[in-house]
Amino acid sequence: ETIQKNGYKHFMLKEIMEQPKVLRECLRSRINEQTGFLQLPSLDNVMDRILAARRIIICACGTSWHSGLVGEYLIEGLGRIPVEVEYASEFRYRSPLLFKDDVVIVTSQSGETADTLEAIRIANKAGALTLGIVNVVGSSIARETSAVVYLQVGPEIGVASTKAFTGQVLVLTMLAVILGHRNGNITDAEALDYARQVQEIPDKVAEILTPENLASLKRLSASLRYAKNFLYLGRGFNFPVALESALKLKEVSYVHAEGYPAAEMKHGPISLIDQQMPVCVIAPKRHHEGNYEKVRSNIQEVVARSGNVIAITDEDGRADLATLAEHVMVVPSTAEWLSPLVSCIPLQLLSYWIADYRGCEIDSPRNLAKSVTVE
Ligand code: G6P
Repeated sequence: ETIQKNGYKHFMLKEIMEQPKVLRECLRSRINEQTGFLQLPSLDNVMDRILAARRIIICACGTSWHSGLVGEYLIEGLGRIPVEVEYASEFRYRSPLLFKDDVVIVTSQSGETADTLEAIRIANKAGALTLGIVNVVGSSIARETSAVVYLQVGPEIGVASTKAFTGQVLVLTMLAVILGHRNGNITDAEALDYARQVQEIPDKVAEILTPENLASLKRLSASLRYAKNFLYLGRGFNFPVALESALKLKEVSYVHAEGYPAAEMKHGPISLIDQQMPVCVIAPKRHHEGNYEKVRSNIQEVVARSGNVIAITDEDGRADLATLAEHVMVVPSTAEWLSPLVSCIPLQLLSYWIADYRGCEIDSPRNLAKSVTVE
């Protein structure tokens, strides 16, 4: 076990730290060497059916549901196909309306989650096309879907999912660009440029994992270890990251946390804010013009109530947010649609270290299972 952890104290930390490497693996053979366009060869046979879809329904549980939610923003934004995102446990029991020209995508690290598997069976029975975005090769979900895209991120051992989340988001990103290109929403020149930007992601993740950044996140975690409640806010593509980051903290540190769309704060959580309440706000600036100003004003509202703001931003937002927030964490700037892949990384580390300072059993938190094979 010590060898497998590669010298790290926990699998979770190892899996966070290996994201640059495994995301490169996830991209392997997915950029066409001749054309430079993104490709997902395992979907070639079903691509026409996906392009003709009436809508795409993404079904999943837990962290995989959060990556599915990023998928909705991506596929509607770039691919211009209507998308719904469903909790598999709800979908399977509410007699969903399904049509033969629907495409049901399930995202699953293990490929064995009982509710997600059942969602596929229902979709298969209705004659919809089913696709799996799965990590574990040969798993039940991989076997029962019409086509599978594997994450290629290697085995994930820590119960709290980290690299499988970024792997799923990366696959959904590639799918969205391919769909948008194939249906004419993205030009050839844009498709080439987008493929290049996607390829830069592993290096941008590596830029976050420098010894200086790690030390500063660790210090920040030490200062936050006794907080009893956290709020995570994000807007647009980063709203699902707020949900996922809150889940990560709950899972490993047993601290209560809520993720919210930044603007929804006014409709409830704002009443909870006081000096005791750390509020992690994802607020990248470059390429996020419209959203940045709005999220910035949410930060001001938190500060006005003495909340302790931890801002995740980029170089462009650093100086501005330093005047408002207690802590500023800088991540490399990316196009808006790629930002979840970088903004989630410091928040994964924050959850990890808060849990470690609190002495939690990080790789197998109480009451949680890596794969929920019963309903
Ligand atoms: C469990 C795990 C989570 C995971 C969820 C869905 O709750 O603890 O980390 O996100 O199941 O699992 P799946 O394997 O389908 O992604």
